[in-house]
Amino acid sequence: MVSYKELGLVNTVEMFKKAVAGGYAIPAFNFNNMEQMQAIIQACAETKSPVILQVSSGARKYANQTILRYMAEGAVQYAKELGWEHPQICLHLDHGDTFELCKSCVDMGFSSVMIDASSLPFEENIKLTKQVVEYAHKYDVTVEAELGVLAGVEDDVSAEESHYTKPEEVIEFATRSGCDSLAISIGTSHGAYKFKPEQCKVDPATGRLVPPPLAFDVLHEIEKKLPGFPIVLHGSSSVPQEEVDTINKYGGALKAAVGIPEEQLREAAKSAVCKINIDSDSRLAMTAAIRKVFAEKPAEFDPRKYLGPARDSMKKLYMHKIINVLGSAGKAE
Ligand code: G3H
Ligand code: 13P
Ligand code: ZN
Repeated sequence: MVSYKELGLVNTVEMFKKAVAGGYAIPAFNFNNMEQMQAIIQACAETKSPVILQVSSGARKYANQTILRYMAEGAVQYAKELGWEHPQICLHLDHGDTFELCKSCVDMGFSSVMIDASSLPFEENIKLTKQVVEYAHKYDVTVEAELGVLAGVEDDVSAEESHYTKPEEVIEFATRSGCDSLAISIGTSHGAYKFKPEQCKVDPATGRLVPPPLAFDVLHEIEKKLPGFPIVLHGSSSVPQEEVDTINKYGGALKAAVGIPEEQLREAAKSAVCKINIDSDSRLAMTAAIRKVFAEKPAEFDPRKYLGPARDSMKKLYMHKIINVLGSAGKAE
């Protein structure tokens, strides 16, 4: 049993309290490899932004949970080395689907876990979430739960359509499960294809697809039911068109990829939404930078020569999100 406190990590309690009161959101960035971790920490150290480093089931399969945990421990030391005196870094399990998985993360030093039982019936979702909460809270580890269904793929679970969170259910869910934060469904979804072209309008000036707005009415109703309670948005990548264009220009074949417009995320960050999950945008930035090097310097075969530019590009993206979208810069001085 390793406590996250010994590793210099923090749970989400203080982060979320300040974010809800201050009208900003904490970035929750997924990481799977060293370059992503370095880019996240460089961006957060430079902007003094609190951060949640997220490990998904896919990341655990790819990189190994133990390695990622040690990388998070390294991230704290790296942040200090970069001159960030009091780093506020949370290590979080993204979309945990069983009690055993959440327990193993708590036991190995994660400071926060998500139990995603949103595909189960209401009572079973409460039961499993409560079981995780009872265990995690013994060790001061915070728990995120989910109510409502996001369209798209959530690890191994995939849904054709989203089902918005029902505001009338949130009080009972939060009270009975004891969760510390709640992920809700208001129209976001995972991946780079968040909307079908037929759901979008076409901007006559640019020819780009404009997606339907998020269900802010549902968010506001939830806020009224649970004043001050931390709300989480998954599936919040914006799918920057420049990155999609670069990927396609250099041999990629991405179709009409559409994300959540940044103005809407900015608006959400000012509300009770205090954690915003971003993964796909980082994947796009990395892929675009690597494709550019491969196309422009076909003789290059030193991985540092393409992973280095990819890291720089991800850092730029993370800084942009922190400063211009989430508003978390300077909140962890
Ligand atoms: O929830 C989805 C995240 O983007 C993680 O995706 O399971 O492919 O790592 P992944
Ligand atoms: P995106 O696919 O929109 O980046 O969402 C990531 C996410 O929600 C991770 O849990
Ligand atoms: Zn998610």
